[in-house]
Amino acid sequence: MWKQINQLRDEGYDIGSVPRKGYVLLSRPDVLTEKEVQPLLRTKRLGQRIDSFKSIESTNTEAKRIARGGCDEGTLVSADHQTGGRGRSGRVWSSSPGEAIQFSIVLRPPLDPSRVATITQTGAAAVAMALKDLGFTPSIKWPNDVILSGKKACGILTEMSCELDRIDFIVMGIGINVNISRFPEDIEQIATSLLLEGNRKLSRVNLMVRVLNHLEPLYDQFCSGQENPDYLNICRELSFLKGKNVKFEKGGELLEGIAGDIDDEGRLKIIMENGREVHLLSGEVHLGLK
Ligand code: BTN
Repeated sequence: MWKQINQLRDEGYDIGSVPRKGYVLLSRPDVLTEKEVQPLLRTKRLGQRIDSFKSIESTNTEAKRIARGGCDEGTLVSADHQTGGRGRSGRVWSSSPGEAIQFSIVLRPPLDPSRVATITQTGAAAVAMALKDLGFTPSIKWPNDVILSGKKACGILTEMSCELDRIDFIVMGIGINVNISRFPEDIEQIATSLLLEGNRKLSRVNLMVRVLNHLEPLYDQFCSGQENPDYLNICRELSFLKGKNVKFEKGGELLEGIAGDIDDEGRLKIIMENGREVHLLSGEVHLGLK
C-alpha cells in the first residue's frame, strides 16, 4: 500500500496519513493525465486514451507516431513541457513548464482529404466556447487562433496524413496559454494568457476537459457534413477579422483587402479594393495597417 501511496505522492498528489485511520487525499495535482482528465469527460471518443508526458519534444510529433501505429480515433497526447513545440509555418511554439495546456488529438474523419481544411475551426470554436464558460470574451482569428483583448491566447496546428482519396489520420494540436505570467520580450505585444486576462490562476484540467467536451459534438457535425454547422456559426459570431483590413498571400502575390464573413465551406471572404471577392480556404492572414 505505501508503495502506491509514494507513487501517487511522486505524481503530485498530496496525501496525509491519519494515525490508526489510514490516508487522506489533501490535494490533487493540476496535471493533464488520464487519471485527472478522464473522470470529468462526457465524450465517447475524445480522450478515451491519454498518453501524458512531463516533457516531450512535441505532442503533435508523438501523436503522429502513434497514429501511424494505428491508435484509435480520439487518442490524446498531452505534455507539461515541450522541448520542440511547433507552430504553423515552421514557427516555434515556446513552452512554460506546467503553466500551459499542450495536447494533440488523433482524428480519423471519414471524409475526402479535400474537405478537411476547415477542421481546425472546430478546435478554435471548442476552445472559444470553453473560455466563454469561464467568463472570458474570446474572439477567433480565422482560421485557428483564439484571441483575448487583441492578443493570441491559443494556437492550433493541424497536420494530416492521407492518400489521394482517403485520410489516414489528422492530428490537431492545441496550445493554450493558461497560467503564464510573463512572455518573452519578442512576443509580449502579441501573446497573452488567461492569468494575465483574468487575474487568476485556472485549473488546466478543468479547461482541457471543457475544450474536449465542446469539441466532440462540433467534430461530429463536421464529420457528418451537417448543413450550417455550429462550429462555423461560432467562428462567424466571434470573428476577430471581420471588417478589418487584412494582408494575405495568394498564388505568390501579396494582396490586401477587407475581411468579410466566413462562407459555408469555412473559407474567409475578403473584399478587394476593386470589389472582387476572394475566398481563402487556408493560409495566414495578417492585420493590415489601414
Ligand atoms: C500556431 O499558432 O502557430 C499553432 C501552435 C500550436 C501549438 C500546439 S501545442 C500542442 C501541439 N504540439 C505542438 O508541437 N504544437 C501544437
